[in-house]
Amino acid sequence: MAVIAPSILAADFANLQAEVEMINQSDADWVHVDIMDGVFVPNISFGIPVCEAIYRHSTKPLDVHLMITQPERYLKTFQKAGAKILTVHYEACPHLHRTIQEIKDLGCMAGVALNPHTPISVLENIIANLDLVCLMSVNPGFGGQKFIENTYAKITQLVELCAENQVSPYIEIDGGVGANNISKLKETGATALVAGSSVFKAENPSETISAFKHQ
Ligand code: DX5
Ligand code: ZN
Repeated sequence: MAVIAPSILAADFANLQAEVEMINQSDADWVHVDIMDGVFVPNISFGIPVCEAIYRHSTKPLDVHLMITQPERYLKTFQKAGAKILTVHYEACPHLHRTIQEIKDLGCMAGVALNPHTPISVLENIIANLDLVCLMSVNPGFGGQKFIENTYAKITQLVELCAENQVSPYIEIDGGVGANNISKLKETGATALVAGSSVFKAENPSETISAFKHQ
């Protein structure tokens, strides 16, 4: 059954404790925490103290998605701030192999995110080291964007690459995920689904999470 990771980016930041409590009580598996630096992506979200605050209240693992340049400078900081899964962008890491090793040495699960235009083939020589691959199904930087349909083809290619290498990292899809595409994403091979607006803008976020989990 696929992991559901509500993205706190779409939550009410003035009521974060209540939002985290809702996730705690729900069928969600992880809390997706989007860190944006205004350089790698054209938006700034929130930083380390907010991540720590979420961690203090969360009973679920934090899935921290670093949309920042030079993420290697902040790995330890985010591990201390509660990250269980640390995902860096392929496009931000010239020494990706070293960065992945550093994440593992910190005791976290290591993820790599690919922007929509980045081909799956760039992972050929690193796939065996990864716990998670995050396929961006929107251009990173903002919640509430439209899902990019080419993502299905990328999932299929990633499933093949994993089979060839006899590995099974989580295949996480991030951006524009909701009731209208979750079944097809799962059928195609997605095993972790990030959902921001579709959860937090719903009338009943907790029931929406359950529906996504069992869809
Ligand atoms: C986008 C972020 C996503 C975002 C998804 O840059 O990485 O995690 O929160 O939001 P929705 O689900 O609204 O597209
Ligand atoms: Zn994200």
